[in-house]
Parts: sequence; C-alpha cells; structure tokens
Amino acid sequence: MSDTAKLLLPDGQSLDLQVLTGTEKEKAIDISELRSKTGYITLDPGFVNTGSCESGITYLDGEKGVLQFRGYPIEELAENSTFIEVAYLLINGELPKKEQLNNFSDRINGHAMIHEDMRHFFEGFSQNAHPMVILSAMVSSLSAYYAEASGRASLEELEINSARLIAKISTIAAFSYKKSAGQPFVYPRDDLSYCENFLNMMFSVPAEPYEMNPEIVQALELLLILHADHEQNCSASTVRVVGSSRANVYASVASGILALWGPLHGGANQQVVQMLQNILEDGGGISKYIEMAKNQNSEFRLMGFGHRVYKNFDPRARILKNTCDSLLKKLGINDPLLEIAIELEATALNDDYFIERKLYPTLDFYTGIIYRTIGIPLNMFTVMFALGRVPGWIAQWKEMHEDPKQKIARPRQLFTGQTKRGFVPAVERN
Ligand code: CMC
Repeated sequence: MSDTAKLLLPDGQSLDLQVLTGTEKEKAIDISELRSKTGYITLDPGFVNTGSCESGITYLDGEKGVLQFRGYPIEELAENSTFIEVAYLLINGELPKKEQLNNFSDRINGHAMIHEDMRHFFEGFSQNAHPMVILSAMVSSLSAYYAEASGRASLEELEINSARLIAKISTIAAFSYKKSAGQPFVYPRDDLSYCENFLNMMFSVPAEPYEMNPEIVQALELLLILHADHEQNCSASTVRVVGSSRANVYASVASGILALWGPLHGGANQQVVQMLQNILEDGGGISKYIEMAKNQNSEFRLMGFGHRVYKNFDPRARILKNTCDSLLKKLGINDPLLEIAIELEATALNDDYFIERKLYPTLDFYTGIIYRTIGIPLNMFTVMFALGRVPGWIAQWKEMHEDPKQKIARPRQLFTGQTKRGFVPAVERN
C-alpha cells in the first residue's frame, strides 16, 4: 500500500504528498509543503476535512461511536474513575498511581482560593450578567495574579498553573452563581473532594449547611468526566490557536470558554432545556418542533441533536440517558422534561430527515435534565461544561507547546474581494 498521494494540478504541476497513518489507522494527507512548492492553498470552510495537529490525547470514531481518553474507553472511565483522576490522565498521559493521585488532588484543593482582591471583580458585573462572561473574564484575570505564566515559558510552570486553573475555576463558577443569586460567597474547603467542594460552594448558605447527597456527588463526577475532552472541537481549537501565539494558559483557556459559550457548541445544553420547557409550556406536543427542525426555511434546530463528528451515536449521550433515568428514580423526582426528551429522541430517530442526515442526540441532550435535578440553574449549564472541559483544554495547550512542529496558527484565505483600484477623494465620489 502506497504511503504517497499524487496531486495533479490544472497548470500541469504535480506533487507527491506523504500519507500519514495514525495509531487507530486513520489516514491523513500531509499538505504542509503544498503552497511553498506549488503556490496553491486548500479551502475547507469549518475545517470539515482538515487535521490541525497530530494528537495523542483523545480518540474519537464518529462512525462507530467510540470515544477514548489516552486509550481508555469513556465507558470504563465513567464507570470507575473520578474527575480528578481523569484530569490527571488527560494532562499527564497515564492514570496516576495512588500517591500521585493524592498529591494531585491535594495540590488542587490547596489552590482553590482565589486572590481576595478578585472578589471585588464580581461587584463590577451586573446581577444578570451571564456566568460564562464572568467565568471567562475571571479566568483571564488570573494571568494578572500569576504573571509567570507567560506563553511558552509557562510550560515549565504548567503543573502548578494546571492545579490553579482546575481548582480556581470551580470557585469562580460558584462565586458567579452566588453573585447572581444575591447570596454571600462560600469559600472552598480543603477537606472536601472536588465535586463536594463545588456543590458546597454553590448551595450552602450561612443560615443552612448543604447536605451532601452521594448520588448527586456521583452524578456530578460523571458529568465532569464525560465533558473532560473531545479532541479538536471549536473551543479546544480556540485554546490551541490562541496558545499558538504564545499567549499564556489562562488567556488561552479564557478564550476557549468564550468559544464554548456559543449555542452550536457548549451553549447547546442551556438551549436544550429551554426548548424542552417551551414544548412543555406549549402543551407537550412535539410534532410542531420536529417539523420546525426539518423546515429548511426555519432557523430552528433540534438542540442537542447532530454533531460534526458523531454520525452513529454519541457514547456520552447513551451513558447520560441511563444516568438521567436512574438518578431521577433514586431521588424520587418526576421531571416532565425527561419524558418529552425521550419522546423527542424516539420520534427524531425514526424520522427520515434525521436518519438521512445521521443526526443523533449528543451529550447535551440529557445533561440539562441532570443539572436541573442537582439544582444547577439554567444559565449555569454551560459553565458546568467548562468546568469539566478545563483538563482537556490544558492537555491540548500542553501538547501543542511540546510539539516541535508547532507553528503559530495562521490560516490562508482565497481572496474574492475588489481588485486594486485608485483612491478617489470624498468630494469627487459619486
Ligand atoms: N436540527 C435540524 N437539522 C439539523 C440539525 C439539528 N439539530 N443539525 C444538523 N441539521 C441538518 C442541517 O440543516 C443540514 O441539513 P442539509 O444538509 O439539508 O442542509 C445537515 O443536518 C448537516 O448539518 P450541518 O450544520 O451542515 O452539520 P455541521 O457538522 O456543520 O454542524 C452542529 C454540527 C452540531 C453545529 C449541528 O448539528 C447543530 O447545529 N446542532 C444543534 C446544536 C447542538 O446541539 N450543538 C451541540 C453539539 S455537541 C456539543 C459539542 O461538542 O459542542
């Protein structure tokens, strides 16, 4: 089998291109010398066919519904691991030994406080500011407090900066919720696990301690694990693009948070529950919404459905559907939105429009129902996604900086605008 592809161009030029094979037998054509040797560029809107890097972090086979972090199937990690263990795995490449895990965990707990001055930043935001804006701004301002994290130099400092990021983002997220709820901030506690600590900072108030429910803690662990990485998606690519200019890890992750916020990416989890609520308020009938989603003249899309890479099923959605069902049963909650979601999924999966386009529910389709059950407010859903994704962003940032082939991200374009013309003074313009 040849490991070279031949490109024949209309002007008679030809070029041999190296064909690379990944460890899971994926094929890629290396076009890195295309422009310098031929003058041509490639055009690929939305990077549908473009690999931006070689990566050893996450493997995803969208046709088969496979997702693996560093070789471990997501199902096994979801069943057996904790979020902090998965964070270690993503960033360091191997599952931690017991002592390594304890040290990593202690380190994260030890960095959960934010600088006391940063508390005042929250006062500058209006009460109804979206928590994703606050999250990004606060993460970005961590650079101001940990200035040694400057670009590539901070690769050496990444161990401590990773711990700071993973720890402080949960404190920032909880504080931004407290701000919107008009409640006093609750400081982090060293004696609690990552997920317990987050729940305590979110839901305890001076008048009443938060009663920890192990089912809820476990559900949160699972949600964060499932969100922890997803290879070169929009926000991970943003982190890499921003980081490629040697921006520090805080600035890069803050940019990733904003990319995640969009409704076609992480913001979809908020949109899904809003859609299910609208259906409920509309009387519970789903056919109008299915028809709207199918209507090419309508902007409406079935939120939580469809994925650039998954063309079979999203393994995370499978895990979450079961969790959703069992968690609600265990807690004795009957959420009408779950029934609507199940009916919507079943109807769409039997509809030709969705079958032909290979549109399946993604993890966002069920996360919102779990977040509601835990007590997380709607506008915090995407913040929860960000909390889970931080280790993935750090791992992507680290891998990019360690890659000797890494270059500043700087795509080309095919110019289709006005060609050269002379300047006409304002008084002479018609
Ligand atoms: N509802 C109705 N039609 C859809 C949907 C949907 N949710 N998603 C895709 N389509 C149609 C789309 O109109 C197009 O139809 P046609 O070929 O007739 O023009 C076809 O399916 C292909 O869609 P696309 O937009 O070209 O596919 P894409 O890979 O560029 O977009 C997507 C992927 C996720 C942006 C899109 O499926 C979508 O908008 N889904 C709803 C938003 C959503 O749930 N996003 C969360 C994604 S998962 C979390 C994450 O990783 O960020």
